Amino acid sequence: MTTYDVVDERDENEMKEAARLLREGGIVAFPTETVYGLGANARMDKAVERIFAAKGRPADNPLIVHVAHMKQLEGWADTSHPYVKQLADACWPGPLTIVLPVRQGYLSARVTAGLSTVGVRIPQHPVAIRLLELADCPVAAPSANRSGKPSPTRAAHVLDDLSGLVDAVVDGGSCEVGVESTVVELKDNQVMVLRPGGVSIEQLQHVLPHAEIISEQEERSKIREPETPRSPGMKYAHYAPNGALTVVTADRDWSSSSIPESENWSRIQQVIQQEIRREKEQGRTTGILAFDEHIDDYQADFVQGMGSLSTPEQAATRLYDALRAMDGAQIEVIYAEGCPRTGIGLALMNRLQKAAADRIIDVSERDR
Ligand code: TXA
Ligand code: MG
Repeated sequence: MTTYDVVDERDENEMKEAARLLREGGIVAFPTETVYGLGANARMDKAVERIFAAKGRPADNPLIVHVAHMKQLEGWADTSHPYVKQLADACWPGPLTIVLPVRQGYLSARVTAGLSTVGVRIPQHPVAIRLLELADCPVAAPSANRSGKPSPTRAAHVLDDLSGLVDAVVDGGSCEVGVESTVVELKDNQVMVLRPGGVSIEQLQHVLPHAEIISEQEERSKIREPETPRSPGMKYAHYAPNGALTVVTADRDWSSSSIPESENWSRIQQVIQQEIRREKEQGRTTGILAFDEHIDDYQADFVQGMGSLSTPEQAATRLYDALRAMDGAQIEVIYAEGCPRTGIGLALMNRLQKAAADRIIDVSERDR
């Protein structure tokens, strides 16, 4: 296995070598602005099969296909829906995946898992773009982690999970966004958000003011219905650290005008402190993921600051690294502060809730 330390896209020889490997059927991990992807030539069955094997990924979960520019979609992805151009102009390159009708027989059937559609995106990372240009083929790439583990946001995470199982890792530093792309599917004037991610609902609404943006995640969080997955990948356990994670939040009361935000935070902190005390009495090692404004108030074996409350983007950037750090410190129980499900907060809460396998305490549902 080769590790290419490609700090920027100008390391032309190493980039060329990694691109050649990709084109000819190898599996190569590379940085994107969201998370590291594990890439393969999307037209080669054997290469795509190796992705599923290396990740231990269920075969019915389709892969996202990455291209360097719109021209590369010609002849196999149907971009005729008028929203595609508007979304592409506003969000590509960037953390948005658009599910499009696909021409049968062009891509490996393993990529689409038998569906008549394919998720495509143009990533916004100079190393990814250069690699895709040089490879000159559509590149299928799920996140470069073992299935079920937190996604990798640094090359070291990829090596922790997949060392020896991949042909090469292109190291491009830390990922800026830190959570995966937003996945959307288009129907007439509707935009179905299949997975919240780096592009927020608010941004989508701004780009398409006349569209109806439908986010099941958001609806479900309000009414707490069990999940009926639309995107095949949403039904599997995901992003989980080894320790048992619980999220403590104030879902209903974040948006209540009669309850000040500071009161929500003090109730969240109280609950976390209580739970941590209880876990310590049981002799367990404890960890907390908290916003920087609150970290001094906590006492646990490992308290990880997620950045300021005023910049939830930073918490998204740090999330997977923080979960992996908890594993590194062999933390047995982890409590995480939740946040309002607005902007990037929707994706952040979606990943936290999945990592917690739905162990969530909503202080709004408790007596005040
Ligand atoms: O940010 C990202 O999207 C990263 C980087 C590497 O680009 N990739 C990524 O891929 O997260 P993956 O395979 O871990 O997640 C793909 C998600 C899954 O939830 C999958 O079910 C969904 O997209 N998906 C892919 N194709 C689809 C399709 N045709 N219809 C519905 N959902 C689809
Ligand atoms: Mg993934």
